[in-house]
Parts: sequence; C-alpha cells; structure tokens
Amino acid sequence: MDFQFSETHELIRETARHFADQKIAPGSIERDEKEIFPRDLVKEMGELGFMGMMVPEEWGGAGLDTISYVIAMEEISRVDASCGVIMSVNNSLVCYGIDKYGTEDQKKRYLRDLASGKKLGAFALSEPEAGSDASNQRTVADRDGDYYILNGTKNWITNGSTCDVVLVMAATDKAKGPKGISTFIVDKGIPGFSVAKKEKKLGIRSSDTVSLAFQDAKVPVANRIGEEGDGFKFAMKTLEGGRIGIAAQALGIAQACLDTSINYSKQRKAFDRPIAELQAIQFKIAEMATNIQAARMLILKAAALKDAGQPFGQEAAMAKLFASKISVQAALEAIQIHGGYGYVQEYLVERYLRDAKITEIYEGTSEIQRVVISRSLLR
Ligand code: CAA
Repeated sequence: MDFQFSETHELIRETARHFADQKIAPGSIERDEKEIFPRDLVKEMGELGFMGMMVPEEWGGAGLDTISYVIAMEEISRVDASCGVIMSVNNSLVCYGIDKYGTEDQKKRYLRDLASGKKLGAFALSEPEAGSDASNQRTVADRDGDYYILNGTKNWITNGSTCDVVLVMAATDKAKGPKGISTFIVDKGIPGFSVAKKEKKLGIRSSDTVSLAFQDAKVPVANRIGEEGDGFKFAMKTLEGGRIGIAAQALGIAQACLDTSINYSKQRKAFDRPIAELQAIQFKIAEMATNIQAARMLILKAAALKDAGQPFGQEAAMAKLFASKISVQAALEAIQIHGGYGYVQEYLVERYLRDAKITEIYEGTSEIQRVVISRSLLR
C-alpha cells in the first residue's frame, strides 16, 4: 500500500489550492450573504479541467482518476463549499452518468460540453415525496412514439436553474416500482419544463437549489439512458460515486475549520498567553486533526477502489457518513475556539457550520448511509 501521492496528484492539489485561495476565496462571504451563483468561477473551473475531471480527454474531460478528483474537491470546498457542490454534481453525477452509461450519440451531443465546463448539469432524482425513499417516483414519463412525455415535480435540485442539461429519473411503469424507473437527458428550456421554487437555504447559499416542474415536456427516446426500467439502478450506481465527492466536500470544510482554528488560537491571547497554549484548545485541535486524517483515508480508500474497478459502494457510504459527521463536529469546535468571534460572519467559521450540515443530508442522509453499509455487511 502506497501512502504517497503521485507528482500528478501533488500538482492537482497545488493548482486547485492556488485557484481556490486566489480566485474563489475573495468573494465568498458576499456570495454567501447575497446568494450569488459563481457563474464566472464555474467557467474558470471548467477551463482548468475541474468540471469533468474523470471524463476521458476524447470527450472533453481531464482524463484523471478519482483520487485527483477528491483532492481538487477538498481544496475547492476548503474555501467555498458552494463551489464544491456545483463541481461535485457536474462531475460525479452528470458527467459520470453519461460517460459510464450513455450511448456514443449521447456522449457526442452532451458529454463534451459538460465535461469541458461549457455547459452545466443537474441530477433530478428527489421529489416532494421521494427523498430517502428514492424509488417512490411520482414523476412519470409516458411513451408516445419517438418521445416520452414527462409530467411531475423534482425537488432540491442543485444547479437546477443555472444548468443547461438535467438527468431526470421518472416512472415509465409505476406498477414495477424501482424496476419501472428510467433516466432521461433533458435540455433546459424545452417546452413544458420550468424552474419552480428557488430555495432559501441555511448553507451553501451561493449554490443554486430549486424545484423543477414538468408539464407535458417532450423528450426524445434517443435521450433515454440505458433501457426502460434501468433508471433506479443507474441512480444508485451513480450516487455511489457522488458520495465520494460529497465526502471530499465535507473534508474540505473540516480542514478549513482546523486551519482557521490553528491560526486564530496562535494569535488570540487570554490570561496573558496565546490560547493555543491552553490544553483545552490543544485537545480540540488534536481531535479535529485526527478525525480529518481518518476521513481522508476513508475517502482515498473508496476512490482507489473505484479507480481499480472494484465495488466501492460500502466504502463510499462509510466515507460520506464519517466525513460529514466530523465536518459538523469540526465546525462546532472551531466556533467554540473562536468564542464570540466564531458566531459572527467575518471569521467564516459560522458559515463552515451552515455549509457542513448539508453534507449529512444530500446524496443520501447519514441514516441512509448506515442502511447502505449495514445491508452490504449483512446480506
Ligand atoms: N447498485 C446497484 N443496484 C442497486 C443499488 C446499488 N448501489 N442499490 C439498490 N440497487 C437495486 C437493488 O439491488 C434492487 O434491485 P434487485 O431487486 O434487482 O436486486 C433495486 O435497486 C431496489 O433496491 P432496494 O430494494 O434496496 O431499494 P429501496 O427502495 O429499499 O432503496 C435506498 C434503497 C438505499 C434507501 C435508496 O433509496 C437510497 O439510496 N436512497 C437515498 C437517495 C439519495 O441518495 N438521494 C440523493 C438525491 S441526489 C442529490 O442529493 C444530488 C444533489 O443535488 C446534491
């Protein structure tokens, strides 16, 4: 087992870190406060190859491995978790889904632009009554000749109003439950497809989260991914990779909590000395750093298994479960170390807490990760 990163991995970390510190960090407080979507940054992230990192170069991607992807996700989320989730959904759900399961024609028409960052993608599985219970799809896709007619509502869709393309899961045969769901590539702006409610969120406020409405929206049969009825398995397989990305996002937030806490505790004085000299602070920092290292190892293990073509669903769920938990804990401890300053906007750590919380919810709640892990162990 090799615990050293390759030169390529080090270069990716350096590039992502530099871009995050120089370009993403400066406007992050304002974007969070005013809920401004970072359109220009997303374009630049595409130019740097961060929007389709694992897609082969022939399809416009960077042709890198999952380890490269988690390194970049961590670095970008360390500075702004909103940029992290925008990148994560495009990479691990949309590009991966089309690259792995799409036809040659679908790759030609969609993957190249999505992987190069010219276009942005969204992933529409969740519905008002299908969150954790994802197979309870009420959105329907009825076949009509060479088209499917989509009707229904999707909820909590990251990139939903800013995207160009959405992967939509819908029931093609409701009687078959999970085996009656199919996936479609849907162009934004087709008649009958509209953005409904924009959510006002606790955290990741500069990312875009909306509900989508389909009313007799006509989608060509040529845009169905896989066979009719393959949609639920497609969603589950794709989400396995997505969970590695969200774990890396949580890790980035936790690392930011640690870095900020170390800096602050060396500068802040109480009782005539820096608070870093107090054991109460030292123990919090030691705990945070140990958890971060453990989370990083779990994430790298899941990523390495994926890169080796081995099953990784259980490891991805473990990585997400643990990384999201320690991220929230790290944010709470960072606030405690900062005292009153931790509770105000200027010192960033209050945002880390708001941003960290969502990592325990989206792409499968922590409870769902426990279901996935225990089913895998007990089957
Ligand atoms: N890989 C392949 N097939 C899978 C699978 C996987 N990981 N998981 C389930 N399946 C298959 C099962 O094998 C079964 O097929 P067979 O009968 O042929 O064996 C079929 O799918 C149905 O599976 P289950 O009976 O296990 O389905 P379930 O209804 O009990 O649900 C669940 C399982 C794990 C709870 C699932 O519903 C789940 O993961 N829920 C969470 C959904 C989620 O993560 N949503 C995130 C939304 S996307 C998002 O958040 C993106 C964003 O914008 C940030």
